[in-house]
Amino acid sequence: MENRGQSFSVLNCIDLSSPDIHKSVSLLKQACLDSGFFYVINHGISQEFMDEVFAQSKMFFTLPLSEKMKHLRNEKHRGYTPVLDEVLDPENQVNGDYKEGYYIGVEVPENDPKSEKPFYGPNVWPTADRLPGWRQTMEKFHQEALEVAKAVARIIALALDLERDFFDKPEMLGEPIATLRLLHYEGGNQIEGQISDPLKGIYGAGAHSDYGLITLLATDDVLGLQICKDKDARPQTWEYVAPLKGAFIVNLGDMLERWSNCIFKSTLHRVLVHGPERYSIAYFVEPSHDCLVECLPTCKSDKNPPKFPPVKCGTYLTQRYKDTHADLNLYTEHQARKNLP
Ligand code: OGA
Ligand code: NI
Repeated sequence: MENRGQSFSVLNCIDLSSPDIHKSVSLLKQACLDSGFFYVINHGISQEFMDEVFAQSKMFFTLPLSEKMKHLRNEKHRGYTPVLDEVLDPENQVNGDYKEGYYIGVEVPENDPKSEKPFYGPNVWPTADRLPGWRQTMEKFHQEALEVAKAVARIIALALDLERDFFDKPEMLGEPIATLRLLHYEGGNQIEGQISDPLKGIYGAGAHSDYGLITLLATDDVLGLQICKDKDARPQTWEYVAPLKGAFIVNLGDMLERWSNCIFKSTLHRVLVHGPERYSIAYFVEPSHDCLVECLPTCKSDKNPPKFPPVKCGTYLTQRYKDTHADLNLYTEHQARKNLP
């Protein structure tokens, strides 16, 4: 049973160019206590550049599948993820997510000792003759989005009564695991089956909360994202988040929930595909591999002891990715079978 109404969530809007920091902190805090979702506007990334990132993303996903499969993600989570590669909500999904994606992480050359770490290494890039300018566009977006994320994290720190630069430390956002993910929801019609239907367990993206500190999400103007403010309510109530031109939709991840001892909650969300295809761009912000995510001093007391044990960011993330993505060997086996005489 679930509420199939078409209600919309009204989200607070944080203006990053506003000089009134008290107002920003208060709006953000209210949003974090209420829905864990808010919009960020005037973030400094130009509309022209955002349009360029979406155009380049579309260019990749328009390539033939055989071409896209040449960029299949590797064990460092870089590269292409085909439709149904991911199952975000196995209890409620029949097949998997009806979306394809492309992961781009922090570029670390192979000869750098840091590339030994999970989630670090060289990216998988389409060749420049196939998609000219693609790599440059994505690298630029990666850098600019990190600055937006840092600006948001400073307001979060203030909202949690921490020093403004709490998350700027080297082991946090100084050397983060930040992942850009281009997403494409194919769309389709009832016959082909890609249209989402919660009653049949078919979703663009199954219900989940994100893993890290925060996620910045840019979407096109096709409706699809829904949030559930109270994951324990039965039936669950889902509300749409309307796309807002020029804004990032920002949501809190599970690491921030752990850090803040559940004062700030990560919120369940999902994507429904109603017909038209949909493009979105997610930027997942996580601290460094060795960062110990443990209850913040301002979020615990004798009466309210820590709810979670400390956990290393790298360990936690590795487990979460393993739980949700297909085993890469599946693709190799599939390929081997196809190559049989
Ligand atoms: C995600 C996500 C939402 C969207 O990738 O984690 O929630 O609108 N994406 O694509
Ligand atoms: Ni998400």
